[in-house]
Amino acid sequence: AFIRELSGLTTLEAKLEQMMDVEKVIIVAGDSDKETFVKQELGRAAVAFLKEIIKKDVTIAVTGGTTMASVANAMVPLNVKCLFVPARGGVGEKVENQANTIVAKMAKAEKGDYRLLHVPDPLSETLYQTIINEPSIAETLSYIKNASIVLHGIGEALAMAERRKTDDHIVEKLTSEKAVSEAFGYYFNREGEIVHKVRTIGIQLEDLASTDYVITVAGGKSKAQAIASFMKQRKNDVLITDEAAATEIVNQY
Ligand code: BG6
Repeated sequence: AFIRELSGLTTLEAKLEQMMDVEKVIIVAGDSDKETFVKQELGRAAVAFLKEIIKKDVTIAVTGGTTMASVANAMVPLNVKCLFVPARGGVGEKVENQANTIVAKMAKAEKGDYRLLHVPDPLSETLYQTIINEPSIAETLSYIKNASIVLHGIGEALAMAERRKTDDHIVEKLTSEKAVSEAFGYYFNREGEIVHKVRTIGIQLEDLASTDYVITVAGGKSKAQAIASFMKQRKNDVLITDEAAATEIVNQY
């Protein structure tokens, strides 16, 4: 704690909390764009925060991505009954970065339970209507909708569109509407307004209002604008980020 104060991280946290109107900001030293251990530190900070807040049995919904994968790597038993569920359907990402894989890994390390969601993302409208009525999927969906903690990452809009092998006409739309961030399959402009949404099942933005905690974990200087954009669109509970992203946000956004 002393070292953190000396290095100015505590001051930076307070500054960001005020700037972004976020209840709590936790900053780890370094830049996760440059050093992989910094991303691991983000994961560790997220687990430490979970340990602090979780006092009773909980359902935790988790998105995919490399940052969430590092949270899974850092997971330890939380000594309550935890159920981990993927926040949304898979995104055709690398298997180790898919929410399904991540929740299974978290549950194993935490000695908790998990449910999987085996649906494509994006979903066509017809498949969507059929799939939400499928009993096993409907059951998992009800756990997801009732999750009290949501853990998620943020991506840069165009980087995520590319990772998801998004159709050209949608990439054009994202470019012309100046999308800068992506989270939960929603794309936002710098004001935090939704400019596009991927049709899939699972957590929708409006569901976040009824959770106890929304924990956003995202770092790296390159994500500064994406983080600033996402944090604008709602009052968030907790942001766990790194020094490079935080410094860039304070200076530029
Ligand atoms: C994806 C999530 O899997 O990971 C996205 O569905 C998120 O919502 C992204 O933006 C972040 O990925 P990373 O690898 O930068 O942590």
